[in-house]
Amino acid sequence: MPLKQLDPGEMTADDIRDWCSVLNDMTAADMPGEPRWRTDRLSDYLTATLPDDRRYVFLHRDDDGDLTGHASLIMFGGEQAGTGVIEMSTRPSARGKGVGRALLRAVAECAAAESCRTLSVEVIATTPAVGFYDRMGFERAVVEQRHLLRWGEVDWEKIEHAAGRLAAGYRLEYHAGAVPERLVDSYASVKANLRTTTDYAIVPEWRGSAQADRLRDSLSTLERRGMRSHIVVALAEPYGNVVGLTELVVAAQRPTRADQYDTVVDPGHRSYGLAMSMKARLLTELRRAEPQLVDVQTWTMQHADDVRWINSELGFAHDVDWYDYEADVAELLARASSGA
Ligand SMILES: CC(C)(COP(=O)(O)OP(=O)(O)OC[C@H]1O[C@@H](n2cnc3c(N)ncnc32)[C@H](O)[C@@H]1OP(=O)(O)O)[C@@H](O)C(=O)NCCC(=O)NCCS
Repeated sequence: MPLKQLDPGEMTADDIRDWCSVLNDMTAADMPGEPRWRTDRLSDYLTATLPDDRRYVFLHRDDDGDLTGHASLIMFGGEQAGTGVIEMSTRPSARGKGVGRALLRAVAECAAAESCRTLSVEVIATTPAVGFYDRMGFERAVVEQRHLLRWGEVDWEKIEHAAGRLAAGYRLEYHAGAVPERLVDSYASVKANLRTTTDYAIVPEWRGSAQADRLRDSLSTLERRGMRSHIVVALAEPYGNVVGLTELVVAAQRPTRADQYDTVVDPGHRSYGLAMSMKARLLTELRRAEPQLVDVQTWTMQHADDVRWINSELGFAHDVDWYDYEADVAELLARASSGA
């Protein structure tokens, strides 16, 4: 049986090692400048999900038992029930032989069986995956710009200065791993603003955090996946409630790379430079907390001029576009099965 569907918890140590090796072969072939994956906590990364989500993995092996490709399917629960996100890789030496198509068919069958109607996938614009997903009938829903900040090129004097320049009536706090209970409610309500703006992408791990209990779930899921979260909040005096936040994660599986996630300021507190101060402060904290870092990546929508201005002031530079592709599961199933 060349293709197996598993609960991630069923993966053996060999499966995990093979999974990592396909990821690294794919990275070397398609995006050689990107950091390589490690097996450290990779099993946790694949196994832990938010409480309402489900993940399945798919392994494709050749006749010798070598892993030729793999896929992951996360089906969201809660308000996003009916949608899911996939990740797939074929080992470069095994491409063009139908492995990708077979994996996608298995993923679509699984999604259909669990009433998941729409699937999305993130694709780096410069890689062959674009041709594959176009061929499979995916539609490009969103284009995001990936920006990179290279640690070796950071102007620390400028960053320290920006971190220390804070409008009167506000203060910043840095937290690693968790948001203190006294801040959870106001943090979640600032986060809810993301639902009314399209300027920022919402990444799966943080997706549910616009309510206090979902925020706790998000943070504990990150921790269980081996992803260390670093957060700076802006607090308004005299009550000390959260009016702005910025979130970043360093994954044990790729510890030289930090992912800058959401930055959001409550609408009533915008135009005071809080986003700039928070992001700069976060970088100064990271310098101490994660000395192994090589770079930080972030994503912005093309029209998000304010965010892009802040990022460029901090030293982030645009290097490549990321596409968010979507497909209807029923159509995908028909296409992946027919060979059309
Ligand atoms: C995308 C990917 C999975 C395709 O795997 P594959 O095993 O080579 O795909 P298949 O051989 O099953 O190809 C299926 C169809 O897509 C087409 N296709 C595949 N790659 C293509 C490309 N780059 N351009 C155009 N068509 C392509 C094939 O020609 C084939 O068409 P056909 O069945 O009508 O003849 C592989 O290129 C890959 O692993 N890329 C990296 C994935 C990645 O970026 N992962 C990270 C984010 S998810």
